[in-house]
Amino acid sequence: MATSQRKILVTSALPYANGPIHLGHMLEYIQTDIWSRYQKLRGHECHYICADDAHGTPIMLKAQQLGIAPEEMIAQVNKEHQQDFADFNVAFDNYHSTHSEENRVLASDIYIKLRDNGFIKSKSISQLFDPEKQMFLPDRFVKGTCPKCKSEDQYGDNCDACGATYSPTELIDPKSAVSGATPVMKDTEHFFFDLPAFEPMLKQWTRSGALQTEMANKLDEWFEQGLQQWDITRDAPYFGFEIPDAPGKFFYVWLDAPIGYMGSFKNLCDKRDDLNFDEFWAKDSTAEVYHFIGKDIVYFHSLFWPAMLHGAGYRQPNSVYAHGYVTVNGAKMSKSKGTFIKARTYLDHLDPEYLRYYYAAKLSSRIDDLDLNLEDFAQRVNSDLVGKLVNLASRTAGFITKRFDGKLTKVADESLIQTFLGKQEQIAEFYETREYGKAMREIMALADIANAYVADAAPWQLVKQEDQQEQAHQVCSNALNLFRILVTYLKPVLPRLAQDVEAFFQMPLTWEGLGQEMENHAIAPFKAMMQRVDLDKVNAMVDDSKDNLQATGEVKTGPLVDDPISDTINFDDFAKLDLRIARIVKAEHVPEADKLLKLQLDIGGETRQVFAGIKSAYAPEALEGKLTVMVANLAPRKMRFGMSEGMVLAAGPGGSELWILEPHEGAEPGMRVK
Ligand code: MSP
Ligand code: ZN
Repeated sequence: MATSQRKILVTSALPYANGPIHLGHMLEYIQTDIWSRYQKLRGHECHYICADDAHGTPIMLKAQQLGIAPEEMIAQVNKEHQQDFADFNVAFDNYHSTHSEENRVLASDIYIKLRDNGFIKSKSISQLFDPEKQMFLPDRFVKGTCPKCKSEDQYGDNCDACGATYSPTELIDPKSAVSGATPVMKDTEHFFFDLPAFEPMLKQWTRSGALQTEMANKLDEWFEQGLQQWDITRDAPYFGFEIPDAPGKFFYVWLDAPIGYMGSFKNLCDKRDDLNFDEFWAKDSTAEVYHFIGKDIVYFHSLFWPAMLHGAGYRQPNSVYAHGYVTVNGAKMSKSKGTFIKARTYLDHLDPEYLRYYYAAKLSSRIDDLDLNLEDFAQRVNSDLVGKLVNLASRTAGFITKRFDGKLTKVADESLIQTFLGKQEQIAEFYETREYGKAMREIMALADIANAYVADAAPWQLVKQEDQQEQAHQVCSNALNLFRILVTYLKPVLPRLAQDVEAFFQMPLTWEGLGQEMENHAIAPFKAMMQRVDLDKVNAMVDDSKDNLQATGEVKTGPLVDDPISDTINFDDFAKLDLRIARIVKAEHVPEADKLLKLQLDIGGETRQVFAGIKSAYAPEALEGKLTVMVANLAPRKMRFGMSEGMVLAAGPGGSELWILEPHEGAEPGMRVK
């Protein structure tokens, strides 16, 4: 059944470059990867594109906290993200970064086109400013007392206690979350994207029928509320792209983030002769473009993004597909319960194919949240994949190898095979429409039929009877053929298993080959293909994910900036710290760095050079001769100004209020701190 070849570009949202990938993210990358693999299995030209989202205030501040350049941090995180995805068998055709030359060029170009077409307005606004840090503060970086319910320590955009939303200027007693200073109002000139001008086009897009119903309804609500001018400007200091013709002003991260889809694709086109950027993005493109995203970022993808593309003369996406949020054991992922599970922690304990299957089994085309119930997860995988699927081969393959020369025979009664093949259109449609749960149920219903057939025919008894050899050969061949069809159907979900099964059958599993004749086909000896999910390993994964401080009820002092993605360490990690008394023998300014001092530390016969971010609190002369405490076993780190061979411990809200530890005189340099 030849379908004409489609040209498809598909994306997942670009994960932020300041934190690790967790199992919530993985829902999206697995959902998209299955879709992209399915399209390729059907012979279409499909390119799956992603990148890290590397800009913005949180990323800038996190790098500052770590005392490294943002470029260094995002390069490191990019590597980790790519490794996590690869180990989950997520097969991107390209993975790039929004902090790239391709993206800078495209973002500037789109901005200039929007400006020249009259869609950029400029106006002066008044915003909270941190006088100590000399920076404007995003809403989330201002904290204070809620103007409605008077709860203390609330964010500048909304109150956790009463749910009120307000502007940061309405907070009582506002404080900068970055420095603790009291912010002041300051005027600044900002550029705005004229979203309301695109209302007719967006309304038409909403009614095109390509969007999920829930999304179209949401858009209608937003139209009713009225579209607003969108502030696309951030003032220095900011980690991002400077706006052409506006020195000191930067694009807000959400302007260049979706352009990152194009940037990553451009990067791929430049590596490949057969790919043409305009063929996918020009106004008259006939290629298909789809974005897979989470429900929290629908506004950006269904309003700003299509409008930006339209205003700059590019094509619109065919559709934007949103999914819901992952909960674990029925609740929001939680560090104290150990259900905030990082991709890496999962991989340390469990087979990625389990999660791919479980998510597939629970996914639909709707925006509903999805619960990862860990007991159900173990049970489902064991029952479906091990009990039904792999079992089909493990019960029958041995006989073929031992008794029938390792070769299959022609099956006389093909009725089951025909039943299985007859489901291909239905299963294909379920994949195409992202109804993976329905596809998995269809496939497992077939697996049930095959298992009932094998149980009935009982080849293990047939082989014992001299006159039933041909019958036994038939049954085992039939079962293995059905197994082959099932694994072909599951190939987008279980690429690693499919690979093992290809090695077993000594042939590639393809959609066109579903009905292939298997007479006389030689198979390899059967090897175990999938272990049962071990509940002990699931529990170990949860333990590894636990935030021990919170679990034992101790008070946890938060990081300087409240960061939902920041890691916690367990006690063993803490015990690895080699803390030493050190004498500061020399302290100097680093001319090119406005926060760092260069220290020479004596730890008892050994001198270490350390760059410490304490310049705002200490004059170098005041430090020389003092005792302090350093982490002596931190891996040396190459900084722009030289090697840093350890770290000095300091704490405080920042600015001049930052204190190093000062052991009393008489402590000996080199002593370990217990
Ligand atoms: N950087 C933006 C996206 C820019 S796209 C031009 C962003 N990054 S994110 O790291 O916060 O999230 C990446 C994707 O993961 C988003 O689509 C988000 O919805 C999804 N998820 C993050 N946590 C999730 C769950 N707990 N459950 C399901 N999806 C989740 O947003
Ligand atoms: Zn409140």
